[in-house]
Amino acid sequence: MYALEMFEITKEFPGVKALDRVSFKVKKGEIHALCGENGAGKSTLMKVLSGLYPAGSYSGEIRIHGQTMRFRNIVDAEKAGIAIIHQELALVKEMTVGENLFLGREPKKFGVIQWDELYYEATRWLQKVGLNISPQTKIQSLGIGQQQLVEIAKALAKQANILILDEPTAALTESEVEILMSILEQLRNEGVACIYISHKMPEVFRLADSITVLRDGKSIATLSRKETNEDQIVSLMVGRELTERYPYVARKPKEVVLEVKNYSVWHKDKPVKVNDNVHLSVRKGEIIGIAGLMGAGRTELVMSLFGAYEGKAEGSVQINGKEVRIRSVQDAIRAGIALVTEDRKRLGLVLGMDVKTNTTLASLKEISKFGIINQNEELKWSQKYVDELKTKTSSIETPVGTLSGGNQQKVVLAKWLMAKPKILILDEPTRGIDVGAKYEIYHLMNKLAQEGVAIIMISSELPEILGMSDRILVMREGRIVREFTHDQATQENIMMAATGGK
Ligand SMILES: Nc1ncnc2c1ncn2[C@@H]1O[C@H](COP(=O)(O)OP(=O)(O)OP(=O)(O)O)[C@@H](O)[C@H]1O
Ligand SMILES: [Mg+2]
Repeated sequence: MYALEMFEITKEFPGVKALDRVSFKVKKGEIHALCGENGAGKSTLMKVLSGLYPAGSYSGEIRIHGQTMRFRNIVDAEKAGIAIIHQELALVKEMTVGENLFLGREPKKFGVIQWDELYYEATRWLQKVGLNISPQTKIQSLGIGQQQLVEIAKALAKQANILILDEPTAALTESEVEILMSILEQLRNEGVACIYISHKMPEVFRLADSITVLRDGKSIATLSRKETNEDQIVSLMVGRELTERYPYVARKPKEVVLEVKNYSVWHKDKPVKVNDNVHLSVRKGEIIGIAGLMGAGRTELVMSLFGAYEGKAEGSVQINGKEVRIRSVQDAIRAGIALVTEDRKRLGLVLGMDVKTNTTLASLKEISKFGIINQNEELKWSQKYVDELKTKTSSIETPVGTLSGGNQQKVVLAKWLMAKPKILILDEPTRGIDVGAKYEIYHLMNKLAQEGVAIIMISSELPEILGMSDRILVMREGRIVREFTHDQATQENIMMAATGGK
């Protein structure tokens, strides 16, 4: 018996057929992974299922436990037992955790919210996801990983029997991922049908019972995990064989471009240091990788160097041998630094504006004359990056907010590449990016290094760090604790240094 059947779903946006007669079935008590490249249609299919795109805005049929459904909105879908955790977090930052968990479904008596009951219930669901925080905590004071767990608790509190997770682990630490995995395994035993979207193959192969692959809005295949393997899924996704994953080339880096000495960064509101006495240098044409567990202070370090961290910093920063003071993002850009962050909304993109405007945003000087933007240049450059990165967009005049998650990340990358930085800092540059596109980004990094850019890459994916860096720095508790050359580094010795193990 299927918990869910979707037949011949077609969904079009102006100029894009996002879904083309997709059929998709999930059994009760099954974890079903949905895989596909950026823009393949995964999130769209789930938005159709969860009522975000109402009946009538797509064609095809949805059956829940054998019964045909026509959801007019999310509430209808929730009533049918469907809960979705979106790719982009959607909690109300100013409200408490408890308020968020029961938003719109607050326990009431005679129309009055029963706060004691609400917070009591909230505590129960928080415990279920392993979060030891007060339900009266404001969302804004939580880290992204904790917020993600709150989202999961919220979905569980709805007692859904069809649970959708759209890239739920992108922002989780290793231990949070473990918690999530065991929650999902438990839910499977309780008979919940779970749809799991992820670009991380090891997770998919650990959890999923079945795997469906979408490509260009079409369903390509559904396979049981036992009868397939990673290589097969990847080639179904990209439509070709992918042999080499990391195109490392040995390089001969030149003179030092960035030199950081005795650099410490203070927490933005607590009297503690998030970075303590950091020393690092990067050469022209060199790629260095910074490894470490989440919370090791890597993001704070690069944000601070980029003038985008609120906490005070002290120590010395030299660019091409000259001492610089970077107090703002403007200072950083002027000094030739660019930062591609994992937080697309905050430092990366203006979602309401189109691809070309976002691409050229950090390079307006280059394409303007007397303060007037040369529109031909704007078109030419943004089209060039769309082609080079194979960004999937119907045109360069499409608002970036309507692109798929991974394609938005490519636009952020394009924006900073175009700014022609001397020093390019990449913070988790391939998070949420599919395997094929990752490869294109790696090639581009090699090309930039070749052209003399000094590159710093933070990544939580060790194979990526190992596969791309000339040197690897390992951070733990705000300090750089080890350095390896490309040849010395292994997954084991990096992990050992990152965790402080022996
Ligand atoms: N609201 C929208 N308006 C216009 N086009 C859209 C909209 N939402 C999605 N699309 C387009 O539909 C296609 C499928 O997008 P979708 O977000 O479903 O991809 P995805 O498989 O989730 O990708 P990713 O792995 O990057 O998250 C893309 O080409 C995207 O640009
Ligand atoms: Mg998506």
